Amino acid sequence: MNNQSILKFIAGDQPILNVNHAILSAPVRHIFMIAIVWYIHQQIKNHHLNILEVGSWMGASTLSWAQGLRDYNHATGTISCIDAWQPFFNRATHQKDVYTQMELALSSDIAYQLYLHNIRTLPSTITCHHFRGKSENILPLLREKYFDIIFIDSDHTYQAVLNDIRCSFPLIKNKGILCGDDLNLQLSQVDHEYALKHADQDFIPDPKTKRNYHPGVTLAVNELLGNVSSWGGFWAMQKYNDSWQKISLKGMPIHYPNHFPEDALKKAEAHLKDIEIY
Ligand SMILES: C[S@@+](CC[C@H](N)C(=O)[O-])C[C@H]1O[C@@H](n2cnc3c(N)ncnc32)[C@H](O)[C@@H]1O
Repeated sequence: MNNQSILKFIAGDQPILNVNHAILSAPVRHIFMIAIVWYIHQQIKNHHLNILEVGSWMGASTLSWAQGLRDYNHATGTISCIDAWQPFFNRATHQKDVYTQMELALSSDIAYQLYLHNIRTLPSTITCHHFRGKSENILPLLREKYFDIIFIDSDHTYQAVLNDIRCSFPLIKNKGILCGDDLNLQLSQVDHEYALKHADQDFIPDPKTKRNYHPGVTLAVNELLGNVSSWGGFWAMQKYNDSWQKISLKGMPIHYPNHFPEDALKKAEAHLKDIEIY
């Protein structure tokens, strides 16, 4: 029996998503990802949306994009995923337990096997394919002005985020959305010098706000896009010809990810109360 057969034997056609290992960031952000599909569907009315995800891990966010397509786009569209599914942390700067566990899941291929299982639960009307490799090598090969949504969530160090965003610029269609995860704080909120000194560290406390954040994401997003629209750490900007504009999700329907386990849904629900939807 191969790995996929074993996972299918255990879980059948249900995804395997553990809140501690598979859903890495704040679960509430997936509600905003689903809402982005609602937003773009209203504006573009294109029945075939192309979504690109940079950093897929075990597929929790891939399934959230798919839910957006199910709920708002007649369950049609394409999701292309890029992930190397290989250890990528510099262990000198990333020493916490979470990084050790992620590294183990990547080096043992568990993360990739779970991703494969999870995307197999998608309906056949949604095309999901993946490129296994480094985003810096794959993004430059993709078709220009092709994607309606690009979601950046791979390596969170400064140069890596900068590169992922830069390489994504030509790939987005006009009126398409560039978005990403883990913008816990914007540059205007944090101690700028401290962020510059710690650009390659992950989830460290900002001395000014005393809140944890990813300095690499904060610096790179600001450098290339300025102050962006963001809700609970999920950020997004819309392309208008040669400029990028903030968007408003006011009035968005609240759809919880169907594939989330109960504890992740509870976290998302509690967190949503603290977020202003503008
Ligand atoms: C934070 S996780 C993605 C989480 C996922 N988006 C979710 O919400 O379920 C980051 C992923 O990026 C991948 N990654 C890191 N650096 C990468 C690179 N340079 N190119 C491609 N993938 C990379 C890792 O293998 C990991 O699976």
